[in-house]
Amino acid sequence: MNLFVLTGAGCSAESGLGTFRDTDGVWARFDPMKLATPEGFAADPDLVQAFYNARRRNTRAASPNAAHFALARLEAALERRGGSLFLCTQNIDDLHERAGSHNVVHMHGELLRARCLQCGAASPWQDDIGGDDVCPACRAAGTLRPHVVWFGEMPLYMHEIHDALEEADLFVAIGTSGSVYPAAGFVAAARQLGIRTCELNLDPSDNAGYFDERFYGPASETVPAWAGRLTAGPDAVV
Ligand code: APR
Repeated sequence: MNLFVLTGAGCSAESGLGTFRDTDGVWARFDPMKLATPEGFAADPDLVQAFYNARRRNTRAASPNAAHFALARLEAALERRGGSLFLCTQNIDDLHERAGSHNVVHMHGELLRARCLQCGAASPWQDDIGGDDVCPACRAAGTLRPHVVWFGEMPLYMHEIHDALEEADLFVAIGTSGSVYPAAGFVAAARQLGIRTCELNLDPSDNAGYFDERFYGPASETVPAWAGRLTAGPDAVV
């Protein structure tokens, strides 16, 4: 069985990393146009670097939760049986990897990488990015930005994502509001391909009506329960 799993901020919410559009979400407290656009970065690079430096520190201090670990176990169980779990995350934290998932693509980039405006390299980066830091790849100074996809920029890995969708037997969205494209359109693409769809979320998302199955509650509860049904008991398919 080949699974395509799309995760959003709700998957990391119980690890203490904020979501974006909940009432106390990141965009309720900060202006995305100033902090998550190329224009905002050009206008005030120090403000944008400080915003992502704080989020990078929060990510390093956070730990994976039961949802992340359940997905890593499910990936291993599928691979033992010749299947796969393609994990497409909108999240820029590294909690999936720290929980043990390895087939992960970050379509909105990664906080723990710095991208060089000179050579384009996206190098691993654990600390704050400063105005005079040196690119590990080309040694240019002062050319590093967060390796995060901002509004108006193209998401990453779109070819790999569409190839994985074509191969999937089941599409599962976890902890995402279904409000930002192209990720929000993946469930419609899955349905057009005749793929069964499932939503695991705290509340119904904007595109809840597209899903064949829907389970609501905290991801740390719904994801382990759902993954457990896939791998054991009468409904096991793995
Ligand atoms: N368990 C499961 N779902 C949760 C939990 C939880 N503990 N807490 C919140 N949620 C759900 C919310 O109900 C909401 O539907 O997670 C979803 C989070 O939605 P958003 O805040 O919009 O986050 P996301 O869908 O990941 O946003 C997509 O928007 O700003 C851009 O680049 C940013 O990747 C982000 C993209």
